[in-house]
Amino acid sequence: MRWPFSFAAITFVCAFLSTATIIENGQVRLNPYPGQATKIYSIKSNDSAWRTYQRNAPEIGYKGRWCANYISWWAAPGIKFGYTGDNIAVTFGKDTSHNVLLAWRVSGLPWNFANVTADATYHFVKPGFPAGVAAGQTTIFEFRVSNWNLGVQINAVHVDRGAAISKVADFPRKIEMIGDSLTAGYTGTYESTSGTGWNLCEGFGNVEFSIIAYTGICLTDKACWGSPRGQLYQWMRTSDTSPRAIQKYGQTPPAWPFSSRQAADIVIINLGTNDASSRTTTPAVSDADFQANYIKLIKSVFEKYPNTKIIVVQPWMGYYRAGSGNTYRQSPNTYKAAIRGAVNSFGGASGGVHYFDTSGILQHSDINPKGHPTDVGHIKLASHLMQFIKLTFGWNFQNTGQEVQSHTMYWNNA
Ligand SMILES: *[C@@H]1O[C@H](CO)[C@@H](O)[C@H](O)[C@H]1NC(C)=O
Ligand SMILES: *[C@@H]1O[C@H](CO)[C@@H](O)[C@H](O)[C@H]1NC(C)=O
Repeated sequence: MRWPFSFAAITFVCAFLSTATIIENGQVRLNPYPGQATKIYSIKSNDSAWRTYQRNAPEIGYKGRWCANYISWWAAPGIKFGYTGDNIAVTFGKDTSHNVLLAWRVSGLPWNFANVTADATYHFVKPGFPAGVAAGQTTIFEFRVSNWNLGVQINAVHVDRGAAISKVADFPRKIEMIGDSLTAGYTGTYESTSGTGWNLCEGFGNVEFSIIAYTGICLTDKACWGSPRGQLYQWMRTSDTSPRAIQKYGQTPPAWPFSSRQAADIVIINLGTNDASSRTTTPAVSDADFQANYIKLIKSVFEKYPNTKIIVVQPWMGYYRAGSGNTYRQSPNTYKAAIRGAVNSFGGASGGVHYFDTSGILQHSDINPKGHPTDVGHIKLASHLMQFIKLTFGWNFQNTGQEVQSHTMYWNNA
């Protein structure tokens, strides 16, 4: 059978053509990245207007994976801290990607967007900006890097001279996602901050999370679509498989210091699409090898997080117009028997390994022309997973009312 498209082939072609145009009902979205920060002068620590905190200040919460050089890796990493005063500026170091997009916000107000670049200081929060920031309240500043392939390096954060930053307590629970483009939000409107991983984890409103996902990556430890290694190896590393990571760390990416970081209570794995689709450059991974590798991956997760629950998401291949039929159909699930076999080898749910059947959640219209979920598709998948976690583990959603999916409010006035 011919697949209607290949996820990964497209991925590889587009991975490094970073500019994307956001199309909305056939029109180019006007002002797609509102909330840009202003590039300002380089602030010295004795500046009369600003108080500077170095990047290792304990008040700064680093979310997702950051290395010892304060460089962000993987999908949707970020920083978060409380502050007083009316101004926030951040200085980015030389290992910041050119014009990388950040989603940033103040407390629970809407997300803004700012492109930032290397060796520069940006003024984010100002008096009266973003609109609606009330004076004299406990206020939180946070940003997330939107692109799974790019990142920033933090050098310092700055507040008003007489002001201070403070630590925001971590949520007690943590989710870790291990995935590929489907989790990272490849081709999503706002990249990782439109992806399944983000929608799910941020959607809870009360969990810490890391999205260890990279477009084109395989579960099997082999080269796939530009990634030199698979997740079987790479998920235990601080850095991802991007060209910037290879430039920085070569073949020896730093190990993630699991024992000194918050453990994941739930690990969600969605892998296999690239193992199956990589056959055009190298042979596809066989069912038996995939099952064996999946078992190794689950073992390594339990080794790092002995008390975690694991959710194994069934990957899907896509939707196709059946030759003579007047309808679309879902392609057979990828490695279904192998994945079932891996889950069962741990005793399934009673062994802490839960199989999540995705069949029927997405439909033809939820897949975009680039073979990946639309924003709606990502939201559907994330919503079903949220409910699965609530019903299976008794986790509750935090009713914060805060915005999760930025720029998705559409309505009809008919
Ligand atoms: C900002 O980031 C977006 C998303 O990566 C990108 O499409 C856009 O071109 C960037 N803007 C600038 C001015 O570089
Ligand atoms: C701040 O420090 C720099 C040296 O780092 C010095 O040249 C400058 O005069 C100082 N400015 C003030 C206002 O003290």
